[in-house]
Amino acid sequence: MTHITRRAALAAAGAAVAAPALAQAAYPNRPITVIVPFAAGGPTDTVTRLVAEVMGRDLGQTLVVENVGGAGGTLGAQRVAQARPDGYTLLLHHIGMGTTPALYRRLSYDAVNGFETIGLVTEVPMTIIAKRDFPARNLAELIQVVRQRKEAINLANAGIGAASHLCGLLFQAAIQTPVTTVPYRGTGPAMNDLVGGTVDLMCDQTTNTTEQIRAGTVRAFAVTTGTRNAALPDLPTAAEAGLPGFEVSVWHGLYAPRGTPAEIVNRLSRALQAALRDERLIQRFADLGTAPVSQEQATPQAHRAYWQADIAKWRPIIQAAGQYAD
Ligand code: MLT
Repeated sequence: MTHITRRAALAAAGAAVAAPALAQAAYPNRPITVIVPFAAGGPTDTVTRLVAEVMGRDLGQTLVVENVGGAGGTLGAQRVAQARPDGYTLLLHHIGMGTTPALYRRLSYDAVNGFETIGLVTEVPMTIIAKRDFPARNLAELIQVVRQRKEAINLANAGIGAASHLCGLLFQAAIQTPVTTVPYRGTGPAMNDLVGGTVDLMCDQTTNTTEQIRAGTVRAFAVTTGTRNAALPDLPTAAEAGLPGFEVSVWHGLYAPRGTPAEIVNRLSRALQAALRDERLIQRFADLGTAPVSQEQATPQAHRAYWQADIAKWRPIIQAAGQYAD
């Protein structure tokens, strides 16, 4: 090898070593897609768009929100599980990540190990609501009417695996009365039908219901947390309104496909933490009855531990209830 060719070979080898490091340092160098596994205009969409906008400022790239609704959130989750693990396709999903492994016997993706966790985002209370002219003034009257009319009552939800489905199941079990469930691709479109009066009831997150309740377009009976919610201070808890122990709230987390490099996951996690410190985001969350998780919870490790514990928590409950989708 001549002197010149040896120098060229050394330069080429150096470039080969430096290239992956440069590619990582440059992440992200194009827009990132965040899949919401429910329809636009619903609670997951609302949380995702708020977080995505602020994360995009930190990352110096736009986070494009794409709604892939259907099958209780499993279609959107599948899309991300099967995407390239390069940091450019993410998933913002909720408690359905904890319930889906028990609810679905057959899925075309790994619902337990198919994702890298980036961080928890928020935990959202739910509210039991009805169409505006539903003939009940409080939860006790609502339960009485539901027990009388049973399957003639329509309860909207976002499919098996949705938070509204889980809350509806718990409600039917608590009052020992089955009703007719009406599945949508998300509670955004379900809310349109509830406001329009074509369905009777829904249990949905405050991020979708607070403004409708304040505007009087739906009737609210209870919030599903142990204490009242500052955004809806007049609304009793389910326990206060006559259903002791009826508590459910909806945690959210941000995911990447399994195999996404740790450097990218950590960069996304730092951007998520920065977003959750943003004063305007915190205020908007508060207006909608929720709050960001702590900075420690917005980490890959805390998120994974929480998610896996939630899978273990729900599996026996769902198996005992005999609730499955195929
Ligand atoms: C949605 O965004 O439509 C919801 O989170 C649906 C649900 O889980 O109830």
